[in-house]
Amino acid sequence: MNYFNYVDNKLWCEGVPVLEVAQAVGTPFYLYSHRTLKRHFEVFDSAFEDIPHIVCFSAKANSNAAILKIFINEGSGIDIVSGGELYRALEAGADPRKIVYSGVGKREEEIRYALESDILMFNVESSQELEVINTCAGRMNTVARISLRVNPDVDPMTHPHISTGMRENKFGIDIEKSLGEYRRAAKLDHIKVIGVDCHIGSQITQIAPFIDALDRLKKLISSLRNEGIGIRYLDLGGGLGITYDQETPPHPKAYAKAIMDSARDIDCTFIFEPGRVIVGNAGILVCEVLYTKNNADKRFVITDAGMNDLMRPSLYNSYHEVRPVELKERKDVLSDVVGPICESSDFFARGRVIPALERGDLMAVMSAGAYGFSMSSNYNSRPRVPEVLVRDEAFYVIRSRETRADLARGESIPDFMR
Ligand code: LLP
Repeated sequence: MNYFNYVDNKLWCEGVPVLEVAQAVGTPFYLYSHRTLKRHFEVFDSAFEDIPHIVCFSAKANSNAAILKIFINEGSGIDIVSGGELYRALEAGADPRKIVYSGVGKREEEIRYALESDILMFNVESSQELEVINTCAGRMNTVARISLRVNPDVDPMTHPHISTGMRENKFGIDIEKSLGEYRRAAKLDHIKVIGVDCHIGSQITQIAPFIDALDRLKKLISSLRNEGIGIRYLDLGGGLGITYDQETPPHPKAYAKAIMDSARDIDCTFIFEPGRVIVGNAGILVCEVLYTKNNADKRFVITDAGMNDLMRPSLYNSYHEVRPVELKERKDVLSDVVGPICESSDFFARGRVIPALERGDLMAVMSAGAYGFSMSSNYNSRPRVPEVLVRDEAFYVIRSRETRADLARGESIPDFMR
């Protein structure tokens, strides 16, 4: 459920016409609905109200300070994968004791920063990393709380680029090796084992892979407890999918029920790291049609947003619905909706029958709130676009449009060339 609707043939976000925002900030821009964001968080969080849990919103899906703040105000923790995300989380006011840190390549400086910040735990992804965390913590005279990120070897049945919990993926520690690693971790002076973690993939639209992973982790937890290794946290990662097109992912309530049915008796605090399911359908990318043309038998609709602004279609061939911001009498035509970037993979829709948009029309790329702005780049020297948040009848620019000067910020021409 989201708050992007047509009223009198015009697309609105909550109580604001999208056109009004476009007139104020220019195109392209990301537009988020506060009510949708808040509601998605509440629905997810309250689905687990019967068990001790912390929802740690996954900052990589959308790391804008104002967006993080919405969830932090609702009690959310933050799932981070870099020192940069830790900085953003702390700046937005996150409780460090609700921050969990995953990622296969944590640098020592990032580990020290996380230790200084006293985050809840590191999700450790290799034995070398465990060693390094132990050493860093030793030098700082402290103890690092950790989980091992276990790779449970389940198939999440999603796009191969976003599947993470199978043996061939780079993530986590093989479940068969994990008991040995835990034994080793438990003996390290500056490590305190407190949990078990996994994250099997993203845009998962079935419950079964989550429960398969959970079953494997439950067995591991009981083996660990039998050996006297205390486990207080069970982190199931993120990954719940959303509807972009025809997908029918489980509702968070059904996902939660299945997890609780299978794991209510474990006596752990559960951690969840949702990203997409909270923000994905709470944001759109609004752009303007610059030109149309026909090549071969196809109509090309060329927009002022490109793959640098939203790279999911180029990267995963992923589907995003495209809609006119204003509905008019238009014929449906087979079209490719493409951006201005000099790459053939710069597209938002390919071979799709859509209303015949014309030069000057505004278009919305739907379901762009997750991994949209956060994956955007300056490719082709394009300033990154603004992000705007609507709340009721008002809108707020929560990130301004980059300027041309921003593009070259930090660059310098060595003296010998002058
Ligand atoms: N936790 C960890 C450790 C993760 O690696 C991720 C996502 C999440 C949580 C959040 O997953 P979510 O609930 O959003 O599925 N760029 C891709 C998605 C990459 C996901 C990476 N990890 C896309 O646009 O589809």
